[in-house]
Amino acid sequence: MRKPLIAGNWKMNLLVVDAVKLVEGLKPLVREVSGVDIVVCPTFTTLYAVGQALKGSNIELGGQNCYVKDSGAFTGEISPQMLLDVGCTWTIIGHSERRQYFKESDAILNEKLKFALASGLKVMFCIGETLEERQSGEMDNVLRRQVTEGLKGLSEAGFDRVAVAYEPVWAIGTGVTATPEQAEEAHAFVRGLLKAQFGGNVSDKVRIQYGGSVKGDNARELMAKPNVDGALVGGASLKADGFAAIVKGAI
Ligand code: PGA
Repeated sequence: MRKPLIAGNWKMNLLVVDAVKLVEGLKPLVREVSGVDIVVCPTFTTLYAVGQALKGSNIELGGQNCYVKDSGAFTGEISPQMLLDVGCTWTIIGHSERRQYFKESDAILNEKLKFALASGLKVMFCIGETLEERQSGEMDNVLRRQVTEGLKGLSEAGFDRVAVAYEPVWAIGTGVTATPEQAEEAHAFVRGLLKAQFGGNVSDKVRIQYGGSVKGDNARELMAKPNVDGALVGGASLKADGFAAIVKGAI
């Protein structure tokens, strides 16, 4: 049985005061929850304050991205070491917004994944097809490429600290959620890819989160599917009660 993983991706939202308020509101709502890994991924500028507020709670802290060096002349970048330094245990890598707006390729994402893991972080590695790719019948090829290239070279042990987030781009921030059946079909396909590339031990243990317009009222039926092991939540993670409802949908 894979332990559900529910993460909030706050994206480029919230100033320090509101970020701290959000987690102060969230903590009591999920305090009694066990058997679920809960993570919030705030902006870089709020990580430290949120990390302080989360001390002693059952909520982990994550970054939304990081670079492939520890330090140096890389203006505007953040290293895994810096995320660890402010209390992060996780980072997201390869979110579709990074792929789309910041032109991050499978090759750089593979490098980022390996560097973050080697630095000691756990990684939520995002994949997913656009609407155009789905409609033109390219979905399987896109997911295959993202898995093959993105996860290339990982060891079986490395997968203890990797979760894959399947996020169909057409469902992100649109209010259009994949149906539980569509999610299950894609997740089963991705698990099959993992099995073919890395073997059954890996495909059995890797958690595959669903992301794309997850809310309190659709989370439970999505996560009831056998291959859906949690959620990566954008918009709905910005409200404590909404995010707590999703966390409870995983129990
Ligand atoms: P959304 O975003 O829940 O707002 O659709 C999900 C994501 O981008 O991770």
